[in-house]
Amino acid sequence: METFDVVVIGAGAAGMMCAIEAGKRGRSVLVIDHAKAPGEKIRISGGGRCNFTNTGASIHNFLSANPKFALSALRRYRPRDFIALVERYGIAYHEKTLGQLFCDGSAKQIITMLLTEMKAAGVTLRLETSVESVAKAVSGFEVSLSSGKVACASLVVASGGKSIPKMGATGLGYDIAKQFGLNIIETRPALVPLTFEAGMLARLTPLSGVALDAVVGHGKTKFQEGMLFTHRGLSGPSILQISSYWREGDEIRVDMAPGVDALAALKTARTATPRQAVATVLATLLPKRVAQVIAEEEAPDKGNIADCSDKVLGRLASAVNAWTFKPVGSEGYRTAEVTLGGVDTEALDSRTLEAKAVPGLFFIGEVVDVTGWLGGYNFQWAWASGWSAGQSV
Ligand code: FDA
Repeated sequence: METFDVVVIGAGAAGMMCAIEAGKRGRSVLVIDHAKAPGEKIRISGGGRCNFTNTGASIHNFLSANPKFALSALRRYRPRDFIALVERYGIAYHEKTLGQLFCDGSAKQIITMLLTEMKAAGVTLRLETSVESVAKAVSGFEVSLSSGKVACASLVVASGGKSIPKMGATGLGYDIAKQFGLNIIETRPALVPLTFEAGMLARLTPLSGVALDAVVGHGKTKFQEGMLFTHRGLSGPSILQISSYWREGDEIRVDMAPGVDALAALKTARTATPRQAVATVLATLLPKRVAQVIAEEEAPDKGNIADCSDKVLGRLASAVNAWTFKPVGSEGYRTAEVTLGGVDTEALDSRTLEAKAVPGLFFIGEVVDVTGWLGGYNFQWAWASGWSAGQSV
């Protein structure tokens, strides 16, 4: 039987980073993946430009049953460490917004960088290889692969979450965790567009394709980024962000004119330009199509702004500054960028990502119950957790 010090399941962001670090420490490392190519999610990330980190990453940008769990790994391997690696490879990048760093060119540059590092560290990569079973051996583990059996002292599960099954996402990591008695925090699609019921969808169909800056809130959590009306419901960064907090039956509140007191603006218009149509006045605060829909919904029988009572202006202003609705669901794993939940952090050592009760077994990246906001945080978690495990395997 072939023997390695370390077997890593999953040639994604976390698995490749872990393999590089373990290889640099002189460990013999095998990385396997059932996909045809490594780092497929890196390739499609950030619209093909990979938002590879966020300069402001801290535990406040992550969701987990234990919000402090990620602290240790995030401190051990920081955004500046990954930026230094990117710079060493001469990969040009820019900050798009809010600390989000993207490649100027292509996400493929990040994959090439990681593959070059793996090669330099002597890592063996086997693609189109699937895992049939995993078993504890007298010392270490025995892994049955489609290519034959391998033995290893350390087994690293870096098989990611369930999002985008078309790209090879499976629940293998959760199954391995359960096999070894580790608890799983319930998983659900996150960073995902939200959908409406048919009636609401029909009313909002004319808005499909309209984008605006909005503050989107759920309880006390708020995000101010772009929002997009789609033919299924709502998308755009602020909606994807809030989807990680939203649960079935909950309300979402949207301010479509952040920083503008719509009621005051409407009252001023009623005095200054009384003959203007309601939709025309609203269009000074919002995209025209949104203004039209709000005017039709909230003031259907009012022609001019002068015809609107304080009560009607109040309704119009609420629709602008505090539109409240209940989504019926999300687009699910088909389009979700990440999976919320995963391997319970209670079962893992926060410094090394090793299972406390199963020496030699490690879980890193998205399979763990640590989920970042949109904006490069999920890759930073993949790099940091992969790096940390790579120091201990
Ligand atoms: P990842 O999913 O990257 O890797 C897991 C690997 O395991 C895959 O290669 C898979 O084929 C393999 N695997 C799974 N099951 C297996 C099995 N049974 N047998 C063998 N191999 C198996 N994040 C961010 O920070 N910035 C961004 O710009 C984006 N953009 C983005 C766009 C889109 C469309 C998506 C879907 C996601 C993002 N993300 C993101 C999220 C980010 O891609 C994600 O969090 C990381 O890729 C997670 O890295 P992992 O290494 O944990 O899993």
